[in-house]
Amino acid sequence: MSAAQKVAIVTGASQGIGAAIVKAYRQLGYRVVATSRTIKPSDDPDVATVAGDIGDRATAQRVVAEALARFGRVDSLVNNAGIYIGKPFTENTIDDYNAIMNVNMAGFFHITQLALTEMEKQAAGHVVTVTGSIDNGMSGGVYTGLAGLTKGGLNAATRALAIEYADRRIRVNAVAPGVIKTPMHAEENLKFFGQYHPLGRIGEASEVASAITFLETAEFITGEIIHVDGGQHAGR
Ligand SMILES: NC(=O)c1ccc[n+]([C@@H]2O[C@H](COP(=O)([O-])OP(=O)(O)OC[C@H]3O[C@@H](n4cnc5c(N)ncnc54)[C@H](OP(=O)(O)O)[C@@H]3O)[C@@H](O)[C@H]2O)c1
Repeated sequence: MSAAQKVAIVTGASQGIGAAIVKAYRQLGYRVVATSRTIKPSDDPDVATVAGDIGDRATAQRVVAEALARFGRVDSLVNNAGIYIGKPFTENTIDDYNAIMNVNMAGFFHITQLALTEMEKQAAGHVVTVTGSIDNGMSGGVYTGLAGLTKGGLNAATRALAIEYADRRIRVNAVAPGVIKTPMHAEENLKFFGQYHPLGRIGEASEVASAITFLETAEFITGEIIHVDGGQHAGR
């Protein structure tokens, strides 16, 4: 193991897009700290796992501490943990609001602060956040008001932090997926969601991971939001 081998933190790593991102970073040769509430230990000695609620600052502190203790550095942070609550806006409860804010917003805030602090010390790093292709809203009974409150904010924060940290050579990007085949969606809804994408299908988790590893290696790109949505953001 080389001391110079880079290290990525991936949140929401137990399944779906997060699990695909862990695999993609390992293929890039990175060591990975993978976190979620239910994540299990890995057989791969270059993957450390930390279980916990990402909305809790103590989890973020344990994840960054594990990256430093096991692998000695933090080069990249992938903020992937997220939940979706799809209801007509006025039917969202205070519990729904608190749940989505906990994962999507607090889950970004705590670990991004802590990872950026480590990246500043080495004057290099990359933060990439999995947001959502809901900038233009959606129609046909797909409710994105509450999700948009969080994902729109994360897109805006991506651009803001890209500028704020550029002088320390830290890049900040986002990937905005359309509907992706993961355990987030019931199998019977997948065909229905396909129609919302000009390419006529939903996406695969590996296709989101590919966009993230592209950004990882595209060293002149910062403040970018790449839509991995079969053309949805361009119109239908
Ligand atoms: N799938 C889509 O169609 C789609 C579309 C647009 C955007 N996205 C975004 O893509 C990201 C990944 O989505 P996905 O489809 O892969 O979802 P998923 O299959 O439901 O996986 C979500 C991941 O987040 C973790 N997680 C949930 N609550 C958590 C908490 N409180 N603390 C720590 N980890 C937590 C889950 O693990 P544990 O249960 O072990 O905690 C799991 O690893 C999310 O940010 C989502 O908003 C997905």
